[in-house]
Amino acid sequence: MKPSIGIVGCGRVGTALATTLIGKGYPIAGVSSLHITSAHRLAGLCGISNATDRPWKITRKADVVFLSTPDGVIESVCESIAQQNGFSPDAVVLHCSGAHASTILASARKSGASIGSMHPLQSFASVDISQNPFKGIRIAIEGDFNAVSAANQMARDMESHPLQIITACKPLYHAAAVVASNFLVTLMGAAFRLIQQAGVSPEEAFSVLKPLVEGTLANIDRVGVAQALTGPVVRGDVQTVETHFRAIGETTPELLPFYRCLVHYTAMQATEGNRISPDLMKIFQDMCKA
Ligand SMILES: NC(=O)c1ccc[n+]([C@@H]2O[C@H](COP(=O)([O-])OP(=O)(O)OC[C@H]3O[C@@H](n4cnc5c(N)ncnc54)[C@H](OP(=O)(O)O)[C@@H]3O)[C@@H](O)[C@H]2O)c1
Repeated sequence: MKPSIGIVGCGRVGTALATTLIGKGYPIAGVSSLHITSAHRLAGLCGISNATDRPWKITRKADVVFLSTPDGVIESVCESIAQQNGFSPDAVVLHCSGAHASTILASARKSGASIGSMHPLQSFASVDISQNPFKGIRIAIEGDFNAVSAANQMARDMESHPLQIITACKPLYHAAAVVASNFLVTLMGAAFRLIQQAGVSPEEAFSVLKPLVEGTLANIDRVGVAQALTGPVVRGDVQTVETHFRAIGETTPELLPFYRCLVHYTAMQATEGNRISPDLMKIFQDMCKA
């Protein structure tokens, strides 16, 4: 018999966890949310009637409790459940935040529960889920022994791959995820703005740039970051970078500090990868100070 699941926070991740785990044979003990309408919506999707806005009513009956609320309230929600004796002493209590460590669930541990965090390296943009969003992804896991064992098992059952993370390193791990996902979106937004200034329509911008991005990702996969770098910095083409600075300054000056910052870091990375000399790096980095 698989452990029963309680969900506190019926948003995007709570919905994905509940609907995926139920499909993998985990019974749902109940769901709870700030607004009862969200809890009823998820209960309906799970085919259960146990929905509430008082989480301790459902967490007491759950072997595994997910606190899938926004990061800022995980600790206080956990404390309020613990104050109501809402955790069974042998329960596993998990949150899904990438930035926070499991230690913010200390109040549940005082109740005898094992605590952990289980952060899916995936972007959940909506509560509408048609396919298993956990399939093939990594899920970063840390915490107490029992919590880590249960989280590893659930990750594998959801067809994802556990990634063990050191508790103290969670902020750095999460910063890496933000750079790879959120900042990629920021980078693409900047590229769209520049290419539209060059006369490409907004409708075409993505399809024009997509093969370039996909080819670059494939190159990183094949030869690694140092060798995948192409373009003016790694060619030592100082004049071209100056031309870019001028053109951006004239058309989209709000992007100039951003572009300079990326040239600065690209030159550093190119030097570390033995693609350009330290002297050339200094030339590029001095240009970026202007
Ligand atoms: N979205 C992602 O891509 C993603 C990826 C990985 C990890 N995560 C993590 O997953 C967790 C949840 O994120 P999310 O994107 O699913 O957020 P979300 O869609 O905003 O859902 C959060 C839910 O928590 C509920 N809630 C808010 N305050 C509450 C409280 N005091 N008590 C009980 N429920 C409360 C909200 O309830 P109502 O609907 O009732 O107002 C909402 O449904 C976060 O720790 C986040 O860092 C998110």
